[in-house]
Amino acid sequence: MAIQIGEQAPDFSQESTQGSIKFHDWLGGSWGVLFSHPKDFTPVCTTELGYVARIKGEFDKRNVKVVAVSVDPVDSHNKWIADIEDTQKIKMNYPILGDSDRKVSDLYGMIHPKANDTLTVRSVFFIDPTKKVRAMITYPASTGRNFDEILRVIDSLQLTDQYKVATPANWKDGEDCIIVPALSDEDAKSRFPKGWKTLRPYLRVTPQPNK
Ligand code: BEZ
Repeated sequence: MAIQIGEQAPDFSQESTQGSIKFHDWLGGSWGVLFSHPKDFTPVCTTELGYVARIKGEFDKRNVKVVAVSVDPVDSHNKWIADIEDTQKIKMNYPILGDSDRKVSDLYGMIHPKANDTLTVRSVFFIDPTKKVRAMITYPASTGRNFDEILRVIDSLQLTDQYKVATPANWKDGEDCIIVPALSDEDAKSRFPKGWKTLRPYLRVTPQPNK
């Protein structure tokens, strides 16, 4: 059964390029992003891992720990890291889990046999500080992910946890939001002092409340 939004993120212990990781303990009170890579020494993964290292400060700002996983062993990852650092001109600054026993890949359903029997697809799991899975995305091996979109999803999750809003199509931090339909106009008055525009009774647009 595939993992679903709202479920507890499976816990595991696994070796990584930064030592052993007991996942839930390692996350502590942070958000987490766990993302899989089909294989070491592959071109798209090399660019992805380098890009995440480059924008790691953006994850830190949002209290998010990032961890990659690939079905190769840690000694292979360590050799690969030299290539990532050299070609992407960045120092690796977060762990890659070794997963040659596929413990993590199987727990999280990252191997899709109809795509490939042995390699993972490009999965991303967004995990909140209570260890709940809050969002997931899945791409095939041939399509590198947009990590700015991953930051955008985190911004939306963290905002909508705090305020009774949802974020519309292509929303970015700082842009107008939607007041959740379940909130009455009466209750909205105190929560959204900047006011809102009612396009339909179910479609009320308000400035982002924390900006
Ligand atoms: C890559 O990361 O470049 C890749 C990995 C597996 C299949 C195709 C591409």
